[in-house]
Amino acid sequence: SQNDTTICIAHVYRGSFVHSTRSAAVEILQDTVLGVDRAGKIAFIGDGSDLDRLSQKWGFKPSDVKQLGQCEFFMPGMVDTHIHASQYSYSGTALDLPLLQWLNTYTFPVEARFKDLSFAMDVYTRVVKRTLKNGTTTACYFATIHTDASLLLGQIADKFGQRALVGKVCMDHNNYNYKETQMESVEETKRFIQELLKKEYPHVRPVVTPRFAVSCSSDLLSALGEIARNNDLHIQSHISETKEEVEVVKELFPDHKSYTDVYKKHHLLTNKTVMAHGCYLTDEELKVFRETGAAISHCPNSNTSLCSGILNTRKVLQNEVKLGLGTDVAGGYSPSMLDAIRRALDSSKVLTIQDPNFQTLTFQEAFRLATLGGSEALGLDEQIGNFEVGKDFDALRVNLCVPDGPVDVFPGDFYLSLCVLHRGIPTGDDRNIVEVYVAGRRVVPLPEK
Ligand code: GUN
Ligand code: FE
Repeated sequence: SQNDTTICIAHVYRGSFVHSTRSAAVEILQDTVLGVDRAGKIAFIGDGSDLDRLSQKWGFKPSDVKQLGQCEFFMPGMVDTHIHASQYSYSGTALDLPLLQWLNTYTFPVEARFKDLSFAMDVYTRVVKRTLKNGTTTACYFATIHTDASLLLGQIADKFGQRALVGKVCMDHNNYNYKETQMESVEETKRFIQELLKKEYPHVRPVVTPRFAVSCSSDLLSALGEIARNNDLHIQSHISETKEEVEVVKELFPDHKSYTDVYKKHHLLTNKTVMAHGCYLTDEELKVFRETGAAISHCPNSNTSLCSGILNTRKVLQNEVKLGLGTDVAGGYSPSMLDAIRRALDSSKVLTIQDPNFQTLTFQEAFRLATLGGSEALGLDEQIGNFEVGKDFDALRVNLCVPDGPVDVFPGDFYLSLCVLHRGIPTGDDRNIVEVYVAGRRVVPLPEK
């Protein structure tokens, strides 16, 4: 029978696909046909041998099918669950101080510069383009305390076609002049949310963003929890990144059982919350994460670069807490999610060095964290994260044999196996990501002007 729905197929791709599912960390689909509708959603997935029937059913010409080349496959776009867009200007430098000194010495002075919209435009354009090129189809961004510059980040993500959660940073408590009053922070957060929603960007949403408990008063935290609840919004912050920070929070909030308890009591732990780091969370705190549905963003590059700690990802997964990966630019010096995958594997191996019985993270699990895991952490797994009918087509076209590229796979031998996929992870880079799609639209390479 004819396609009895009104769905119009815009693109059909044929080749190998690799992704994660609920039950499999990595599933490889050989010779598969995938159709994308006009709205950028996956309309069907079928077997290559079934092409004629699929083309009749869905009303496309077999000659319109885009066949992937030798050595190519599609994988889901990667989800960076924690990145400071505003810190991109100094990434790769300033990694010689522990967190709290690092913030005061390097970070706050740079973030203060985002009052200047032309500086913001320059940095935000670069970070959006760079992360897209590296395969980040969804980014959960911290901007700065400046509402207008934060709105600009949303505008730029929309312009270049990146899916983004954008947060205007809130902080009313420190000894530096990079801060707001509690009232400014609350009023400007409301204005930021209102203005960003008014733009109706299809893939950009606001996220309520208290910087962390160290730099927010209790009243500000409460007000932000209420704003998030009233508007059903995402929430992001930092938690238990360093031992010193955990101690400071204990002093600032002596009536609370734990760092986690501080956020929970201020209604900031919900199933739309993502908290970065979590290196020093106790089992009891992880239980609270599971119960509330709050997620952790694992930022391994940052954790080692600032000598903050090592997250035990195995323990987090065993506690059934949602987990994604983050670059945490500029505490992490790389904007690449492939780097985050490698560092997640390395940091897990360090734990195995310390305890040979420790069950190391597998590369398949790390792949899952960067894609489906990230989508779960951001509460977007109904919409993105893998190749399922009804989800948006957020995808990377990967070629492991690009000329003069970093991966020496011989084209004649190419057959997508776990072994070949594994090889691409330590050795590949953005040269192997030949195309990037968000909601069916090609965003890399950028269309020529
Ligand atoms: N904790 C509070 N602010 C920050 C930040 O900007 N970067 C990191 N890594 N941790 C933080
Ligand atoms: Fe961070």
